[in-house]
Amino acid sequence: MVSVSMLAAHARETGRATGEHATKSGFRHLPGPVFRLAREILTNWSNRCILSAACQCAELPSVKSRWMGAFQVGVFRICRFDNREDDGVADDVLESGSVGQSTAPAEVKPIKLAHVVLRSSQFEKLVSWYKFVLNCRAVFENELLCFLTYDEEHHRVAILNVPDLGEQPESAAGVHHVAFTFASMGDLMAQYVRLRDEGIKPVFVINHGPTTSMYYCDPDGNQLEFQIENYDSVEESTEFFYSEEFAENPIGVEFDPEDMLAKIAAGVPEAELKRRPRAGSKGLDDIKLR
Ligand SMILES: [Fe+2]
Repeated sequence: MVSVSMLAAHARETGRATGEHATKSGFRHLPGPVFRLAREILTNWSNRCILSAACQCAELPSVKSRWMGAFQVGVFRICRFDNREDDGVADDVLESGSVGQSTAPAEVKPIKLAHVVLRSSQFEKLVSWYKFVLNCRAVFENELLCFLTYDEEHHRVAILNVPDLGEQPESAAGVHHVAFTFASMGDLMAQYVRLRDEGIKPVFVINHGPTTSMYYCDPDGNQLEFQIENYDSVEESTEFFYSEEFAENPIGVEFDPEDMLAKIAAGVPEAELKRRPRAGSKGLDDIKLR
């Protein structure tokens, strides 16, 4: 396996050997334009080693394939230089892209939030609780760990069996809650009823504005939020954050889930159920959520 440091060393060495040569030797004697393939090899988040090779137009495919295959990661540009000027300034960028993993630092970011891992000394209790509450299945389970999923991901929640753990002090910094989105108000309330009927009650129920949310505590005190989106688009949700209503009350308005069930039974439209009522000024001190 080629390491990043090996790539960097190779890049420096080859860059001196061919890159500078290509830049300084000039191609004035060649009849056509000069193409240079520049490979940027990421060595760390702030430094890059730049390689380049140059060739005549007719040789471009072979040079491209040789250089593109030389490294497993990197970004590249193929530029056209006017060989009569040979001023080192590219006249045109013909092609750019990346090979292997994306290595342009500004573009590197996660593609999704994958899973949450919990450690617990109540392993079996926690595994059963999550299996029921998330309506999920174990893709792997033994006496040490359990991987749970409810969708296409191989695990969304994992639980580690760690004996003799202490309780989480409320004063400790850390994760406040993990949120799961449901498809509709009907699904969210069906989830409420399913849990309620097994004696699992929410600790906090609120319309935040962008979401309608029900908070629960697992047997270890970790907080989960079950929510639905109140708006149809991210733009509308974001707009709410800049509204006068949000400035007045950034937390939300609590509601009674049984009252919500009654409204659903009475046929109140979902859009109306999801609309946050005005409730005056509120702040963090007004909510029960720890
Ligand atoms: Fe949340």
